[in-house]
Amino acid sequence: MPSKSPRDSRQAARLLEPGPVVLVTAQFRSQPNVMTAAWVIPLSLDPPRVGVAIHPSRFTHELVTRGELFVLNVPTLELIDAVHRCGIVSGREFDKFLQAGLHPVDALAVDVPVIEECAAHIECGLVERLTLGDHDLFVGEVLAVSADDELFTDRWQISDDSPLIHHVALDLYAGLSRPYTARPEREEDEED
Ligand SMILES: Cc1cc2nc3c(=O)[nH]c(=O)nc-3n(C[C@H](O)[C@H](O)[C@H](O)COP(=O)(O)O)c2cc1C
Repeated sequence: MPSKSPRDSRQAARLLEPGPVVLVTAQFRSQPNVMTAAWVIPLSLDPPRVGVAIHPSRFTHELVTRGELFVLNVPTLELIDAVHRCGIVSGREFDKFLQAGLHPVDALAVDVPVIEECAAHIECGLVERLTLGDHDLFVGEVLAVSADDELFTDRWQISDDSPLIHHVALDLYAGLSRPYTARPEREEDEED
């Protein structure tokens, strides 16, 4: 396994900046579960907070509500089949860690496992649950962050290929193909 190191909690926003799909882990009374989520958002740098929208029908909704902790694990492209599986079956019926070949290991700060195979982990304590529509927004205070030292320095290392998985629709996913650096405003732009 590649080495991962603890990071400043403010890096949670950078880890989520390109909008990757995540695997949410949660646990209540020693029963852990993992669920795929695409609706994930950085919410605040100080205090560091992130959000994930979870439908009330999901087992994960119940576990986060009861356990008041969750982890956003950031998977890489090799995990695409596992990511899809964790998004189409429920932990109420199956042990998804076993089914998807994912290994739960101890987190740095919370009593919820992180997924060993993922490149980064954002460990959160539940601050608030907001009902905004058919999904609820779970707001998490970031308690610890760790990330793969090669893939993430102070940002994701995107060269020709991105290691991250992005959800397009249904069973369709995409990667980012290359980075573009924005130039400062040019003079001709200012004349417009
Ligand atoms: C790519 C993908 C993204 C998903 N994103 C979300 C999401 O952001 N929020 C949500 O509530 N469900 C989302 N789902 C659906 C859940 O992952 C799915 O219902 C899962 O089976 C729930 O698992 P659980 O019952 O074990 O919690 C997504 C599914 C896929 C395949």
